[in-house]
Amino acid sequence: MTIQKILKGVKIIGVGGAVPPTIIMNDALTQLVDTSDEWITSRTGIKQRHVLSGDETLSDLGVQAAKQAVAQAGVDPATIGMVIVATTTPDERYPAMAARVQTGIGAVNASGYDIALACTGFAAALITAEQFLRTGFHQRILVIGADAHTRVMDWSDRNTCVLFGDGAGAVLLESTELENDAFLACDMNLDGAKANELHADHIVNNCPLVPQASARSPYVQMNGREVYKFAVAVVMNSILRTLENCQKTIEDIDYLILHQANIRIMESMTERLGIPPEKMIVNLQRYGNTSAATIPLALNEAVLDGRIKTGSTVMICGFGGGLSWASSCFKWGGPTVAVTTEQMNG
Ligand code: UT7
Repeated sequence: MTIQKILKGVKIIGVGGAVPPTIIMNDALTQLVDTSDEWITSRTGIKQRHVLSGDETLSDLGVQAAKQAVAQAGVDPATIGMVIVATTTPDERYPAMAARVQTGIGAVNASGYDIALACTGFAAALITAEQFLRTGFHQRILVIGADAHTRVMDWSDRNTCVLFGDGAGAVLLESTELENDAFLACDMNLDGAKANELHADHIVNNCPLVPQASARSPYVQMNGREVYKFAVAVVMNSILRTLENCQKTIEDIDYLILHQANIRIMESMTERLGIPPEKMIVNLQRYGNTSAATIPLALNEAVLDGRIKTGSTVMICGFGGGLSWASSCFKWGGPTVAVTTEQMNG
């Protein structure tokens, strides 16, 4: 492929989101652990979560979300050059979930891979896609954030099992003329020294001819208080650095979409940044923490209900496992209309 040596602009041209139909309310969790709706609501803001059930798959959710984004943009899936899926809870160890989504939506000419950066995954995937589009390497890239943490939970651990839900969100990006560039600035970080504060092991066993690895929990383990303190410390700096990179101010942000982990983290950020609460997009009361899916699910809702409009300046910030954190600031230039099921199915 001939790489054009002139940098391109980048814009989002479609967005979509999908969650499984089964809803678990806070009260139902009292059957599993010593908890209460009152504790979960007051400490996290979460009231319910959607969970995968039976043979439902995360790939199917990713395909649904991706089909909405592609239909909203009104483009032929065969024109998509790449599919990037951010997930740490795929249905399969391999192939990459990107392969399932590629074939599920008919993106027959796309390459693709997965990015494993937990709750920061969507922001990192968006920034990655932006770079491929800027250089002219691809013209259209589909980015999906999808996770099914309810399948890697210790359902007897009240510290974690009340927090998560399943879902997928997608955006379709396109390169454009530099003067129409909608991506203003970004920021991406990793602090591996704090990796053990939030992790899930994946070791099954060694070759039977060598000593076996010591037994490890296959479930998510989180030091909630430490991750909370980390989030409050890094999110604000990342947002301020991103604003500085594009010479904007707090007042220029029309909507802020933080990773939906805890309403107290979000409220503390609006207070410390001096952002009016109505500029913060919040939907974790309905979905819980869907990890890589929280930001695109919230973006999808705010676009479809008309809060985010053409020209709105949106700041996103993801944070979590790694420990990692990343921000991106962009202007919404995509469509603002909902896609019907008929349109989505072609
Ligand atoms: O998505 C990746 C990023 N993740 C995050 O950003 C999560 C950040 N952390 C948090 O959101 C909060 O730390 C949690 C929601 C996880 C926990 O809230 P907290 O206010 O930090 O609670 P805590 O861990 O300090 O625990 C307070 C008490 C403890 O009891 P004692 O030791 O004070 O007697 C816990 O055992 O609350 C207890 N507790 C619960 N009680 C009822 C913990 N989980 C529960 C529960 N129900 N589900």
